[in-house]
Amino acid sequence: MSYPGRGALVVLEGCDKAGKTTQAKLLYENMIKAGIPTNYMCFPDRTTKIGKLIDDYLKCNNDIEDHAIHLLFSANRWENVPKMKELLHRGTTLVIDRYAYSGVAFSSAKKNFSLDWCKQCDIGLPKPDLVLFFDLNMHNAVQRPTYGQERYENQTFQEKVRRNFLLLQDESFKVIDANRPIEVVYEDAKNSVLRAIQESRFKPLQELWV
Ligand code: TMP
Ligand code: MG
Repeated sequence: MSYPGRGALVVLEGCDKAGKTTQAKLLYENMIKAGIPTNYMCFPDRTTKIGKLIDDYLKCNNDIEDHAIHLLFSANRWENVPKMKELLHRGTTLVIDRYAYSGVAFSSAKKNFSLDWCKQCDIGLPKPDLVLFFDLNMHNAVQRPTYGQERYENQTFQEKVRRNFLLLQDESFKVIDANRPIEVVYEDAKNSVLRAIQESRFKPLQELWV
């Protein structure tokens, strides 16, 4: 099957343990099965040198000053931009587990960090065609296995993060009720992704927050 035009940039966002990774993998696998050229990526990309610093930070093996870690999360996205653009322009749809919205929503939940300051370093990144925000009741999130293992996984912080995500809503945002069974959530997500692929194919890739 030939796919003229570019691929779509699809981002999955949400608080910790909202089911993003499960859904991103389901989307990736099923789109490949359907013959749609697709790649899965995630941020933080823990495989690079910057990503390894971030991984240690999240596992509480090191401490990094709050502004500095914010900039490292952003640098970790920028270092992947050439690869992302190449794939998109070749017609590959990208399903990305977290992006700049996480960057801003998490850092700005810290004391003395404004949304506006947090956005600056991600301005100009490729703009997602679709942001699926998986909204899960905090009570359900804390019940999920492995909750609380990494930095930031505590309820008070996550509630602030959720409010920040909702402040970042723009025209590409779709809120998905993640409290439903996996298959129902998936159906909802898949339909939005297929629509985004159709609609963005012949549109130029835009820049985020410009
Ligand atoms: P993960 O659990 O999806 O691998 O994400 C790791 C954690 O890092 C999660 O708590 C969200 C947080 N995070 C940021 O604080 N800033 C960012 O830019 C990103 C991508 C994630
Ligand atoms: Mg996590």
